Amino acid sequence: MRTAVYPGSFDPITRGHTSILASGMKAFDRIVVAVLNNPRKTAMFTVEERIEMIQEAAAEMGYGDRIDVDRFDGLLVDYCRQQEAQVILRGLRAVADFEYELQMANMNRHLNPDVETVFIMADDAYFYVSSNLIKEAAKLGGNVEELVPGSVAARLREKLA
Ligand code: PNS
Repeated sequence: MRTAVYPGSFDPITRGHTSILASGMKAFDRIVVAVLNNPRKTAMFTVEERIEMIQEAAAEMGYGDRIDVDRFDGLLVDYCRQQEAQVILRGLRAVADFEYELQMANMNRHLNPDVETVFIMADDAYFYVSSNLIKEAAKLGGNVEELVPGSVAARLREKLA
């Protein structure tokens, strides 16, 4: 059983994230989407809301039974051990992601050499989509409905009403 942990803030999950999940489903038997309340970022949605939106998106994709959604605190590699996951899954978009991702992958390898970081490229249609830009555009009245799963579009509307 190949298990990957797909960690992130997911505030909120976007179609960039779901494209990575869909590709990840071809490579892994089970993916645990692990939501962290990142103190370095100001969140729009609570961790519980983010978890619900990811569960709804996974069900919408038809992968509800092979995708678990959870929250985690502390070190990611410790969480991977707890989940018996061999792999950390991360998505890559434009070049700007690379340096941050390289640093994290190297740090995680240092902390636990048994866990491998695997990168999947986001679908090119969503290469420039990020949770931060989605929130900024939505707050300013922009239409982002095609860039997020249906459940997220509805919640963004509610939050900003
Ligand atoms: O979506 P994000 O905010 O870019 O995800 C960042 C995340 C959650 C993957 C990263 O902050 C993380 O793994 N935090 C857990 C703390 C940890 O293990 N730090 C040491 C390795 S860099």
